[in-house]
Amino acid sequence: MLPITALVLISSLSALHLVSAGSSNVLSICSQIAGNISSASNVYYPLDPNYGSDIYHYATSSMQTSACSVEPGNPQDVGVILHILGASGTPFAVKGGGHIMNPGYSSTTGVQIAMTRFNNVDYDASTETVAIGAGMVWDDVYAALEVFGANVVGGRVSGIGVAGFTLGGGGITVFHYGLTIDNVQAYQLVLPNGTVVNVTENSNPDLFFGLKGGYNNFGIVTSFTLKTFSQGQVWGGQITIASQYVDQVNTATANFAMNVTDPKAALITTIDFTDGQIVASVMMFYDAPTPPSGIFDDFLAISYIQKNVSTRSYLSLVQVEATEMSANKRGFYNTVPLMDITPSVMQAVLNQAEYWGAEMLLTGEAIISYDVEPFLPTILAHGASSAYPPDRSQRYLPLNIYFSWTGSSNDEAFYNAILETAANLTNSAMIEGQAEIATAPRYPNYAIYGTDMVDIYGDSIDALVTLKETYDPQNVMGLAGGWKV
Ligand SMILES: Cc1cc2nc3c(=O)[nH]c(=O)nc-3n(C[C@H](O)[C@H](O)[C@H](O)COP(=O)(O)OP(=O)(O)OC[C@H]3O[C@@H](n4cnc5c(N)ncnc54)[C@H](O)[C@@H]3O)c2cc1C
Ligand SMILES: *[C@@H]1O[C@H](CO)[C@@H](O)[C@H](O)[C@H]1NC(C)=O
Ligand SMILES: *[C@@H]1O[C@H](CO)[C@@H](O)[C@H](O)[C@H]1NC(C)=O
Ligand SMILES: *[C@@H]1O[C@H](CO)[C@@H](O)[C@H](O)[C@H]1NC(C)=O
Ligand SMILES: *[C@@H]1O[C@H](CO)[C@@H](O)[C@H](O)[C@H]1NC(C)=O
Ligand SMILES: *[C@@H]1O[C@H](CO)[C@@H](O)[C@H](O)[C@H]1NC(C)=O
Ligand SMILES: *[C@@H]1O[C@H](CO)[C@@H](O)[C@H](O)[C@H]1NC(C)=O
Repeated sequence: MLPITALVLISSLSALHLVSAGSSNVLSICSQIAGNISSASNVYYPLDPNYGSDIYHYATSSMQTSACSVEPGNPQDVGVILHILGASGTPFAVKGGGHIMNPGYSSTTGVQIAMTRFNNVDYDASTETVAIGAGMVWDDVYAALEVFGANVVGGRVSGIGVAGFTLGGGGITVFHYGLTIDNVQAYQLVLPNGTVVNVTENSNPDLFFGLKGGYNNFGIVTSFTLKTFSQGQVWGGQITIASQYVDQVNTATANFAMNVTDPKAALITTIDFTDGQIVASVMMFYDAPTPPSGIFDDFLAISYIQKNVSTRSYLSLVQVEATEMSANKRGFYNTVPLMDITPSVMQAVLNQAEYWGAEMLLTGEAIISYDVEPFLPTILAHGASSAYPPDRSQRYLPLNIYFSWTGSSNDEAFYNAILETAANLTNSAMIEGQAEIATAPRYPNYAIYGTDMVDIYGDSIDALVTLKETYDPQNVMGLAGGWKV
């Protein structure tokens, strides 16, 4: 893996070099774009307020200063912009919600495209579908659908963009309807040559497969059409638990993962090291006003520091963690694809949180965090083949590792640490018998840059290469960062 990491670094460095050497060229591209787009769209420069929100990212380490930003207002203008960028070989980025934790994946020193004007949520009760603009975050979608008593399968915490989440194979949500990609009926896609296509399973089966996990490799998506379902009040929320009771959280989490088969129940257990100590939190979800007894009883019996659990709307449940909407810190994610969440896996996670908490404490304001997200073995039965996951015969549980800190001088230390902790947890799980995870696909929305593409897309790679050759022969989308075919 190391040589590939090095290659990725070298190629992104040389791209940066190219831009800084020719930033006046980028400015002239910005004005060519401004001169060719319709009045529905605008170009902004560093002192404009829109520019600030256009380049904004959840993690400051994912943010870059672009020469200008552009907010396209319709798919035709996206085509015009891609044409100018492609013809001039100008580096650019496409941003939905700006939540990706990998630097340069939705940011650039070239031209920042922000999808914010694609902000429609058009619900069609007769077909039970909703068309969602690529600039939306899930909170807004839930709020718009709530008045109709409807919902979609989307993100489980506040602030995440619809676009990146869905294009990255999303995701980890309410069990009984499958992954978000299993609920997409159509993608409105602007191809690298500017042509606008309504991609469905029937119209373009190859692109439909590729967009389920393939991000920005084949163009820019402007709208997603998703299946809806009826949604009533749900039950759930968060409890926060002090270090002396974390063993109880671990036991209850492993029991939930091993024993609970009710598809309406879901859980995220988080083990953090923050402010010099371990703290656990548990997000509980049940898709009915009251959960049957038994499922969450073990969690509710643990002494807690804070509790915000009730019967509520789905939006209210998702927003229990709303304070995290702007982290304003540097951060990386990494992931381990687990087969099972067992007591020994939970113990290894706790050990790692303690170990790295102590190790990285000197760097100040750091958060060391591990999210354990169990879901049923049947989750992948709801959909057909997709770029990710490449194989639906076995579901893996993406453990989400999140390290956060301040100060760019610490980036390298945290990059190395988050690789090391993932390797340690992989080894721990393999020692207890989860041997397959050595080669299991990593969830792209959590994987850290430098991860080999084969370790994400597995057997899908050949199909993705063919798609790339067919729809982007000039490699226009290669001018944007991300998981690149
Ligand atoms: C606090 C937090 C909580 C999270 N929780 C979850 C969770 O519960 N479950 C889960 O599955 N994931 C979760 N994630 C991960 C999240 O799904 C990914 O970071 C996702 O890619 C974010 O989407 P975005 O639109 O906000 O990202 P962006 O940073 O805007 O984009 C991500 C990638 O998608 C590409 N892209 C964006 N828009 C388009 C477009 N219109 N056309 C083509 N390419 C595009 C970008 O170029 C970039 O490469 C979480 C992330 C954070 C920060
Ligand atoms: C429109 O874009 C072309 C390049 O595709 C450029 O030559 C031309 O100057 C632009 N027009 C304006 C008015 O900026
Ligand atoms: C795209 O296809 C979907 C599914 O067939 C359909 O509902 C939608 O109206 C189409 N969109 C456009 C813009 O044609
Ligand atoms: C879950 O299963 C384990 C063993 O598989 C058992 O020890 C435990 O009591 C069970 N928990 C519940 C809540 O049923
Ligand atoms: C509980 O969560 C809701 C968001 O769903 C929030 O508005 C409320 O302030 C929270 N209550 C407490 C006591 O934190
Ligand atoms: C994981 O890291 C801890 C702390 O360094 C170490 O004690 C343990 O042996 C490691 N386990 C594996 C399987 O590498
Ligand atoms: C753009 O590419 C698509 C797919 O290859 C092709 O069908 C279409 O004709 C092309 N459009 C133009 C204007 O070249």
